Amino acid sequence: MEIIIRPTPEECASIGGRIIANLINGKPNAVLGLATGSTPIPLYSELIRLHKEEGLSFSEVTSFNLDEYIGLSGEHPCSYQFFMDEELFGKIDIKSNSAHIPNGEAQDIQSECLQYEQAIRSSGGIDLQVLGIGSDGHIGFNEPGSSLGSRTRIKTLTGETIEDNARFFDNPDQVPRHCITMGVGTIMDSETVLLFAFGEGKADIISKAVEGPVSAMVPASILQLHPNVKVIVDEAAGSKLANISYYKEVYENKPDWQA
Ligand code: F6R
Repeated sequence: MEIIIRPTPEECASIGGRIIANLINGKPNAVLGLATGSTPIPLYSELIRLHKEEGLSFSEVTSFNLDEYIGLSGEHPCSYQFFMDEELFGKIDIKSNSAHIPNGEAQDIQSECLQYEQAIRSSGGIDLQVLGIGSDGHIGFNEPGSSLGSRTRIKTLTGETIEDNARFFDNPDQVPRHCITMGVGTIMDSETVLLFAFGEGKADIISKAVEGPVSAMVPASILQLHPNVKVIVDEAAGSKLANISYYKEVYENKPDWQA
């Protein structure tokens, strides 16, 4: 795991944007795994800037989002389809049929989940997965206790996640109780993972995920077993890491060939 701590979310987003641009420049038909929520917004702004100002093209890119609420249509302003259209897809040149999001309105949710896994496999697998982290340690919507080998499936949100996400809805009762999410095993199959976290509210869970024991009770901790993960956090989210000064020293003294 590489831990990168920068002063602001914007600086973290700039690092993430550069990594994604390098990937796409070397592999125009790269497959990206994408997240929603407030965390990736600065990254998506940076990708839009790279597209508009530096000509980064997503025309051959395929993407798969981590999750979607069950029961919300893509036009619902709180659906993840709507979020992605607003925050990224509508502002870059990705083809709409290459940008995949689980269908939360599917009649047969189980076969939707199987098809989603199959579509990821058929695309050649995810080259780079963008992740945020829930205050309870979830990645995607893999809540504490999720099988660390799980695949795309239906999950029930915890009370903590419903409370956290209520800010996006007019009323907490409107937050759907169920979602479709890629599994922990699906996420672990990605070639590279970038996990972002910002703000003091994420400091405890970042320290558990990065420095605590690997446990299904903190699903993000499984990333300690992934060979190519960068955890990119602002000062506030990194403030409870025991080894913070070492992580900073490593980052600041990277040999040229590694940087
Ligand atoms: C959303 C997702 C979630 C969020 C997490 C953090 O697609 O996969 O795991 O990344 O709930 O949400 P924010 O960024 O709003 O704090």
